[in-house]
Amino acid sequence: MTERTSESRQPEQGRSAREPADQEAAGGEDTGAAKPPEGGPRRGVSDALAENMTQGWADTERRDLAPLPQAEHTARRRAELSACFPGERLVVPAGRLKVRANDTFYPFRPSSDYVYLTGDQTEEAVLVLEPAEGGGHEATAYLLPRSDRGSGEFWLSARGELWDGRRNSLAENEQVLGLRCADVRTLAGALREAAGPVRLLRGHDSAVEEALRDKATAERDEEFRVFLSEMRRIKDDFEIADLRFACEATARGFEDVVRVLDKAEATSERYVEGTFFLRARVEGNNVGYASICAAGPHATTIHWVRNDGPVRSGDLLLIDAGVETRRLYTADITRTLPVSGRFTPLQRTVYDAVYEAQSAGIAAVRPGARYRDFHLAAQQVLAEHLVSWGLFGDMPVDKVLELGLQRRWTMHGTGHMLGLDVHDCAAARTEAYADGVLEPGMVLTVEPGLYFQVDDLTVPEEYRGIGVRIEDDILVTEDGNENLSAALPRRADEVENWMAALKG
Ligand code: GLY
Ligand code: MN
Ligand code: MN
Repeated sequence: MTERTSESRQPEQGRSAREPADQEAAGGEDTGAAKPPEGGPRRGVSDALAENMTQGWADTERRDLAPLPQAEHTARRRAELSACFPGERLVVPAGRLKVRANDTFYPFRPSSDYVYLTGDQTEEAVLVLEPAEGGGHEATAYLLPRSDRGSGEFWLSARGELWDGRRNSLAENEQVLGLRCADVRTLAGALREAAGPVRLLRGHDSAVEEALRDKATAERDEEFRVFLSEMRRIKDDFEIADLRFACEATARGFEDVVRVLDKAEATSERYVEGTFFLRARVEGNNVGYASICAAGPHATTIHWVRNDGPVRSGDLLLIDAGVETRRLYTADITRTLPVSGRFTPLQRTVYDAVYEAQSAGIAAVRPGARYRDFHLAAQQVLAEHLVSWGLFGDMPVDKVLELGLQRRWTMHGTGHMLGLDVHDCAAARTEAYADGVLEPGMVLTVEPGLYFQVDDLTVPEEYRGIGVRIEDDILVTEDGNENLSAALPRRADEVENWMAALKG
């Protein structure tokens, strides 16, 4: 990639667009455009070039932008938040770019709570809900504005649009987001001066945390984080539609993989990962988490993301992957496929046990059921199969379950909430999540698995190296559930037929 490191252009390392180096480059009071200071940020820039770059640019301001389709929903969510924290200033940062090396950064992914409340995905942005005089709050998105051309910020700043691309102006963002927008470079000062109670979503923006160091308290901020997480448990229609699309696109990504299994066999698991990523990037924003593309014994490693092993006919291939949509909702789906297109009898025995466990788990998802029920239902079925295979001698199923001994081969939980984050609502209190009750609008995964490690001497040799997980994304409806990922077959014979059709 093109380096930004000529002396004349290089901002100070680690400074953000809100901090002095950029302010200086942006034409702070004593750095006029035509006369850059010797040795300053414009070192090596001729007056003629500096002058030349100030003019000749068209006005591209847009005055006709449509609001984001989710703007009504984000406004309602902010109103709900406002009603629950009267008189308090609420601060929700999007997060900052993370340095990969020198002046290169990891792809930016904004904090999910910021996205939930604004629909915006801009780095270094901050939503502030300011208590209003007559009650309620006024919401402001603090954002980086367009780069000023006259001062040279456009091309001299670390975040200049010449390097990073055009941003929306603040006025354009007001149209798009449906809320007031202000320059984020004014925020730290405003927060330092602000009086009254504050709650901050921590962990995303060190500059905002520093500005609020003497005002925010860890305990109150933690309550705020928990509140936001719990708010996100019930998905609205917009979110459900987006999750539905995420599942559909993910199903297409799995189909892509099946079509190129011969190329994966000729190369490695990387081919599977790359193929799915192409679909995720074209139809969505990204993958929602690191794809697990685990062939053969790698399928017994629950979080196998190295994806660098061989793909062999006769083995199983476990793919756990999800497309993250452009609005940042993710699917989380797993299928375990026979690379050859046909399960061996033993693979099928293990697969069928997991399939039955998953079916029992899905059947337990309905409004009013306890959250834990689907896990218990799936574990019961898995334990029954493990006992029937003689893996516990003559210990009965109830005793196995009481002691949790089945977990040797099924260590992870059977599911989790799903949404903007793959493990969504993770800060919710136990009583509102794992000890809670399912409600319409919740979306969760049901994903039992069985994993026999290659070095597990307690199972017959032929089981060793087999790993199976089946994972679907389940919406709790008014009267039961809907499997959002039902486009992908689950039953063994349906999987085989589906693969045969795709492989032609
Ligand atoms: N891939 C992460 C999960 O299934 O939870
Ligand atoms: Mn998964
Ligand atoms: Mn999952």
